[in-house]
Amino acid sequence: MAIAEPDHAPFQARGEPPNFPEEFPGWAGYVEWEKYPEKKKQAEEILAKYDFPTAPEFQFKPLPDTNPVLEGVRWKYYHYAMGEGLKDIPDISWKYVLKEKSPDMLHVLQFPYNGEPPRDRLTEITPNADHFVRNHGGIPEIEEDKYFFDVEGLVNNPKRISLKDLKNPDLFPQITKTVTLQCSGTRRIEQIHEYPGDGDELINAPWGEGAIGTAKWTGVSLKKVIKYCGGLKDGGMHVEFFGADTYFKKGHIYNYAVSVPYRKVKVNEVMLAYEMNGEPLPKIHGFPLRVVVFGYIGARSCKWLTRINVIPGPSMAPVQMKEYIYYTPQIGKQNATYSNGFSIQTMPVSSAIMTPLNHDQIIHDGKIKLTGWAYSGSGWPERVEVSGDGGSIWYEVPFTGMSTKYFHAWRVWEYEMPVDAEGWLEFCVRTWDDALNTQPTYVRSAWNWDLHVTSSCHRIKVYSINRSRPATAKRLKVLDNLGVSIVPITHPVPMDLETDEEYIEEMKARQGRDPLE
Ligand code: MTE
Repeated sequence: MAIAEPDHAPFQARGEPPNFPEEFPGWAGYVEWEKYPEKKKQAEEILAKYDFPTAPEFQFKPLPDTNPVLEGVRWKYYHYAMGEGLKDIPDISWKYVLKEKSPDMLHVLQFPYNGEPPRDRLTEITPNADHFVRNHGGIPEIEEDKYFFDVEGLVNNPKRISLKDLKNPDLFPQITKTVTLQCSGTRRIEQIHEYPGDGDELINAPWGEGAIGTAKWTGVSLKKVIKYCGGLKDGGMHVEFFGADTYFKKGHIYNYAVSVPYRKVKVNEVMLAYEMNGEPLPKIHGFPLRVVVFGYIGARSCKWLTRINVIPGPSMAPVQMKEYIYYTPQIGKQNATYSNGFSIQTMPVSSAIMTPLNHDQIIHDGKIKLTGWAYSGSGWPERVEVSGDGGSIWYEVPFTGMSTKYFHAWRVWEYEMPVDAEGWLEFCVRTWDDALNTQPTYVRSAWNWDLHVTSSCHRIKVYSINRSRPATAKRLKVLDNLGVSIVPITHPVPMDLETDEEYIEEMKARQGRDPLE
């Protein structure tokens, strides 16, 4: 068995390097697997020859404090093993991360790239450079004028549609909609810390609170496209999407594929998007065309769309059938199957405190400012409540402190919370949506083996130093005069805590250390 990152052995090709050509000119990095079972088999035989590095252990050990946090060595090697067509994909993908994302992104996994923005840059609409990225494979480079997608399966008139056609307002009305995309791995780190889980491919994004973002997406409702293709044939119930990227799982090779039920398409909640915040889609977010499914788990919003296939039931592709599953807390490595959990589709109510950060030590005058987001995939956040005592007393965030209400988008919020107490306090947040749904209380109330959907009340511990209290104000002044900071609180106070005279006087007032008799 090869050793895990970071001390992995260098990649060594075995046998003649294979060559799996790209499917079309102008579609660099797109190798089609699903249409060619023989080619798939050949690739899998090549994979079987290798002893790839194992996944690093980071759930029972602290996460590396590097950026990128994890490298993803084995995925790089799967791509190297495929030779021409895919071997350069890890480098090309990283080049797009550097080009398209903010320089201070938190790279949770270098390849396939997964990254979230710094927490203090929370705005109602997330700038493209700050939007989180969740990839299962590499980034294909597709030329706009060579681009098209196919609509096939249970539609009356299967069609090939170019981007130019899709953008033609005489054929398809253009729509713009503010929609939040949330990866169901958001806040997974809380589950990892308390109850480690799946060590399979799913775990490689140890996400914090940032695997969520909101953009103004522009494109065409998929319903119009299906109509353009003559509507559904009898039995067409689900719509499957294929991406141009290559995905590896347990010795098999695939193109990324997922599906949504047609009922979601019918209510115009599935968009084929070519613009993100008024700009062409960045490469890393699916250029030239992606799917955006309003309110559903981000996984269904297929990027680099190649094909739409209308089918009778949900897709049997691994991302749909074997991943993004919600289990009971009694399911784990000992008994998990793909069928004994349910498929995560509509995202539940959830929220997070983005500032302050866990373990912050805060000097304040009786109020601490909190900022965060709140989201519900089936509607919108109506009320956000925060607590400074772990959830006994809740304060409502006034509506003036909450951003615009959109169906299918988050609301960012801020609140000056009254804080009298000092020392370590547990702050938490919970949200109520328009249907009165709210969040489970603790991570353990809803732990899931797959570590998806950490939707419990988000909790952080902060150390409160309340300057409106005279003793604290006095200590801060003394430290200030000495030019010494009170934080970090783990460092000792450099001078005596009181003078001997003060001590004697105070002890007298307190009737001494010992009783009189
Ligand atoms: N589409 C393709 N083709 N390949 C992928 O790896 N990841 C999915 C989805 N679409 C993915 C994809 C997942 S899990 C999420 S959460 C969203 O894309 C993330 O979208 P973003 O990277 O644009 O934020």
